Amino acid sequence: MGRALIIGAGGVASVVVHKCCQNSEVFEEICIASRTKEKCDALKEKLEGGKTKISTAYVDADNTEMLIELINSFKPDIVINVALPYQDLTIMDACLATGVDYVDTANYEPLDTAKFEYKWQWAYREKYEKAGITALLGSGFDPGVTGVFCAYAMKHYFDEIHYIDILDANAGDHGYPFATNFNPEINIREITAKGSYIENGKWVETEPLEFKQVYDFPEIGPKDIYLLHHEELESLALNIKGVKKIRFWMTFSEKYINHLTVLENVGMTSIEPIEYEGKQIVPLQFLKAVLPDPASLGPRTKGKTNIGCIMQGVKDGKPLTYYVYNVCDHEECYKEVGSQAISYTTGVPAMIGAMMVMTGKWKKPGVNNIEEFDPDPFMEALNKWGLPWKESFSPTLLEE
Ligand SMILES: NC(=O)c1ccc[n+]([C@@H]2O[C@H](COP(=O)([O-])OP(=O)(O)OC[C@H]3O[C@@H](n4cnc5c(N)ncnc54)[C@H](OP(=O)(O)O)[C@@H]3O)[C@@H](O)[C@H]2O)c1
Repeated sequence: MGRALIIGAGGVASVVVHKCCQNSEVFEEICIASRTKEKCDALKEKLEGGKTKISTAYVDADNTEMLIELINSFKPDIVINVALPYQDLTIMDACLATGVDYVDTANYEPLDTAKFEYKWQWAYREKYEKAGITALLGSGFDPGVTGVFCAYAMKHYFDEIHYIDILDANAGDHGYPFATNFNPEINIREITAKGSYIENGKWVETEPLEFKQVYDFPEIGPKDIYLLHHEELESLALNIKGVKKIRFWMTFSEKYINHLTVLENVGMTSIEPIEYEGKQIVPLQFLKAVLPDPASLGPRTKGKTNIGCIMQGVKDGKPLTYYVYNVCDHEECYKEVGSQAISYTTGVPAMIGAMMVMTGKWKKPGVNNIEEFDPDPFMEALNKWGLPWKESFSPTLLEE
């Protein structure tokens, strides 16, 4: 069918590449481009020989001109951005200049402020519409599948959804005292930031990790969950009809929180540059360099993730409750693609999102969040491509 340019060669990109190669009818040709070309070449070496033709390239995705040159030479039908959120705008600019569709998994964030909002990317709406190209924002798991879950519930079960709780549980154990499951810099910036949720159309801010509950997850058991700010709250509160309150929760073990508290107290999670031996360094970036590489956790991680949405609303005037979730096994992911479940649960939806746009099922010029598309073909693809979902109409609800 076509060609995809995959930008980034980290944990998530590796899964995207594996999944595109499994789906060679759609992804006939891919180019893996990143700033460390050796990582792209290593992926090519591992997967070459199948039906999907693979090439690699060096690219600095902070440099729009270099991206434009690469796009013009490879001529992809779509760019799959699985580099870091800091590169979203330069990559979107390059897609605009070349008239190519765009998919990502995380919203733009300026390097010097830990702030997640869609305003920078939504500002491209009109330009993308005029250019006739589609941008699909947030096609990972959360954001991503969680938005598709909400759109699916809205389409098939509810007239209005009043309360949404997004629950992200990772019961995986990698055996290290402390490590993050994806890019440590992005992960720690997310957790040490203030929490927030949306109630009656307004953001309510909390202290970092201020709200904690215990939730008994299907197939995983009881876990501590903490309220976090998360980017999909912003778009879902606008795009899902009737939302009065929407919150995002993530599990962290006591051990993880203790390590993080100490690192924070000593200043290691700061993103303010400091002078060290005549050189400017950012403590959080230094911490990233000493922590285990998330890509190395795959062979060590055992256990499962459970990510889903609990919704409460009305259908034909009657109250209705619905829980839809996916359970993913770290060891099975590793067996299949050589990565743990966190990268897997992000990489599979990124491939599916790209497939939706490439096959024309989700072609919609403009800049769109994932819940703005028809959820049905994506839900079907989740079952086919490794992230089957389950549903319940009588889940245990969270505390208010
Ligand atoms: N929606 C979700 O559910 C979800 C969940 C997890 C992660 N994510 C997102 O997925 C993305 C990838 O995460 P990851 O865990 O795969 O991170 P990662 O392992 O750190 O990989 C990032 C990749 O991007 C490359 N890169 C960084 N800056 C670049 C630049 N200027 N030019 C070219 N390449 C550059 C890195 O190159 P080097 O190899 O040289 O460092 C690396 O290969 C992130 O945006 C993350 O926020 C989304």
